[in-house]
Amino acid sequence: MAYKFKRQIFGFMDLLRFKKMVPTREKMLAEGSAEPLPKTFSVNETAKILHPGTRKVKLAEIRDETHDIKTFVFETFAPSMFRAGQYVSLRARIGGSVVSRPYAISSSPFDALRGNKVAVTIKRAGFFSEWMCDNAALGDEFELGDPSGDFFHDGVRDSRRVLGIAGGSGITPFFSMAQAIAEGSEDFELTLLYGAKTVKDLAFKDRLDALCGDKFKVVYVLSDEKKDGFEHGFITAELISKFAQGDFTVMMCGPQVMYDFAEKELAKIGVTGARRVRKEANCVSTRDVKPQEFKLRVHIRDEAFDIKADARETLLTAMERAGLKVPSKCRAGGCGFCHSRLIDGKYSIAGADKRRLADVKFGFVHPCCTYPDSDMEIEVPRG
Ligand code: FES
Repeated sequence: MAYKFKRQIFGFMDLLRFKKMVPTREKMLAEGSAEPLPKTFSVNETAKILHPGTRKVKLAEIRDETHDIKTFVFETFAPSMFRAGQYVSLRARIGGSVVSRPYAISSSPFDALRGNKVAVTIKRAGFFSEWMCDNAALGDEFELGDPSGDFFHDGVRDSRRVLGIAGGSGITPFFSMAQAIAEGSEDFELTLLYGAKTVKDLAFKDRLDALCGDKFKVVYVLSDEKKDGFEHGFITAELISKFAQGDFTVMMCGPQVMYDFAEKELAKIGVTGARRVRKEANCVSTRDVKPQEFKLRVHIRDEAFDIKADARETLLTAMERAGLKVPSKCRAGGCGFCHSRLIDGKYSIAGADKRRLADVKFGFVHPCCTYPDSDMEIEVPRG
């Protein structure tokens, strides 16, 4: 059957309207302000605060927290915003290498917004952390990345009541959360089980005690020391049930051995699953294989670099060791910031493969959690 077109009986009216639009527009232009448009709008200023990108910061204060944990306070020269529990990537040039590492922020959101200060708390463990504890000096300049990560309380995703489980320097994001609850920038209830070997291994103890109130409580659990006012042993199912009942979200930050133990204990009381139990990812470290040296060809924009890669270390570490400035944030395979194109070579991935299916299909890798198993060639974005 032939298609019948509708007759446009008002078509010429549209033409008349269009003709009228031209003088109307000219009149409005003539009556408009001759002032040039503003160069910046408040929405752009807000975006700059929310996403400042990598910024230069100056080390303003160093505090000893325990015998092996120090806090480093950085002057950021402009306000910044983050959610309590997030991390920043700290970067420095050490000798011929460019070294970076993500550290949880230990200061409060208001300190960053109103005081232009961001603090990270570092335990003396690993190359960069040891360098920071032994060599960083007041006035030194560093680069600080955007606040990142999803280890914060989300009112839609999480229960209003949170049970925090912290071990070692894993106390850091919870210290920020406790300050945020006290200053009013976060609104949820946090009960914190903080495990350490002895009292002298507890960081921020006096300040945590001072922050206790209706919405924040802290329970210290010492494994190697018995003391009045402290729980003794490990964070067991029995201890968890003593301090948390009903509907609550568990947030954990600490070493892998603590995660493995706590997850088994939580399962005994039926607390399982990614919605109820959230863990902050730990950085990928070296793997336990025989030392073996491979060649790694790295393309960055239109330059190519030939460097060495040790089978025990990730591709990211190899590139940093060679002084290449390449992007990284979480160093745990989760954020995708180091996402790079594999051109050639065999590799292994540390832990679970967190790449998107499309990345796997089209040959992209995350150098922060990829170990070389042969000579390799990759293309990396500029850092
Ligand atoms: S730095 Fe986050 S995935 Fe590599």
